[in-house]
Amino acid sequence: MKPYTFDKSEALMERARKVVPGGIYGHQNPIVLTKGAFPSFFERGEGSHVWDVDGNEYIDYMCSYGPIVLGHRHPKVEEAVRRQSQLGNCFNAPTPLWVELAEYLVSITPCADWAVFAKNGSDVCTWATEVARHATGRKKIAMCAGAYHGAHAWCTPAPAGVMPEDRANIVYFRFNDLQSLRNLVDENHGEIAGVIVSPFRHDAGFDSELPVEGFLPGVRDLCDRNGIVLILDDVRAGFRLHMGGSGELFGVRPDLTTYCKAIANGYPLSACLGRDSLRKAAQEVFFTGSYFTSAVPMAAALACLKELQAGNGIERMRVIGEKLREGMLAQARAAGFEVTYSGPPSMPYMTFKDDHGRHDRIKVFAGECARNGVYLAPRHNWFISAAHSEEDIRRTLEVTEQAFAAVRKQFA
Ligand SMILES: Cc1ncc(COP(=O)(O)O)c(C=O)c1O
Repeated sequence: MKPYTFDKSEALMERARKVVPGGIYGHQNPIVLTKGAFPSFFERGEGSHVWDVDGNEYIDYMCSYGPIVLGHRHPKVEEAVRRQSQLGNCFNAPTPLWVELAEYLVSITPCADWAVFAKNGSDVCTWATEVARHATGRKKIAMCAGAYHGAHAWCTPAPAGVMPEDRANIVYFRFNDLQSLRNLVDENHGEIAGVIVSPFRHDAGFDSELPVEGFLPGVRDLCDRNGIVLILDDVRAGFRLHMGGSGELFGVRPDLTTYCKAIANGYPLSACLGRDSLRKAAQEVFFTGSYFTSAVPMAAALACLKELQAGNGIERMRVIGEKLREGMLAQARAAGFEVTYSGPPSMPYMTFKDDHGRHDRIKVFAGECARNGVYLAPRHNWFISAAHSEEDIRRTLEVTEQAFAAVRKQFA
């Protein structure tokens, strides 16, 4: 195989730095990736594979950090997009797809009676906290320390540009520690409007944690007994674990559920689903955006979700994810590494015990994988799509075997 080079990526990055602050910002900033091993720009994707601007091909285990759930350019989604594009995308009012998609989402979600749409996960998570505040007349929002709910001032992980006042009414508890939430509710008696929590802990750079038995039902119960709105942030895990919302897998039914990533196989759309009891508050909290009603992403979402359901996509991702996990754990053992492979099989995250919370070995590992055609980020959970095949796993495991050997060599 020809060694991967990144000349075009590097040239584009140089141009980008002159006209875009930092070149590329946010989670796609290449600074967190292994230097010299990853491309900065992509050209195309097909199924479970992507090609960068230098023509290097990768099996894609990041899936655009979540949105690609059926594989790149899935024919049914692309057909729905083409059909709607011929009619138009952006009008003075929504198209019938607005209603159809809301009806469909409500029909597959046991705890939802209505849906609203926006563009980003941050939009719907922030709006959900406002609905909780308006419905309860209270001001505080409880979230897990270190959790990611978006790039808005109340929750961004980077402090630049954020005032203490922006977070004056945010209080923190620990995921999987019900007592820490009980204490928070006691200390802020009658002041907490909403608890926002993800279905499992997937903080970037840390081992993932599935909810321990009783944690999420315990959160539900505490919310019920204290008049608090429970918001499930399903932006990252939604439609990869359960079609009815990830809460279904873990025995919890929230009052509000936020979705984004996997909802439309890469087309820009987010949604918040809620219960009847919050319909009035939802109607009164102002929410709008230039593109919130755009029809093409809604056509993509209907096609994507129906195909996921018809093709049993969630189960397929779980089975393929299990194979990847078994294979990589066996290789790690054989190479004499202790690794932690955490999270659900379709959204795994791996760390080396000897990295002790730094990311030295996993960076070498991910770099070696990328240079050999397997794209996985070193400090973020990976994503399986319904397009990943047994052949992808076979090829991936050939590459990861070499990658473990490269880590062994470097950290002998
Ligand atoms: C759990 C969770 N919530 C919210 C967000 C924010 O979504 P967006 O980047 O679409 O604004 C993300 C994005 O990664 C996320 O993972």
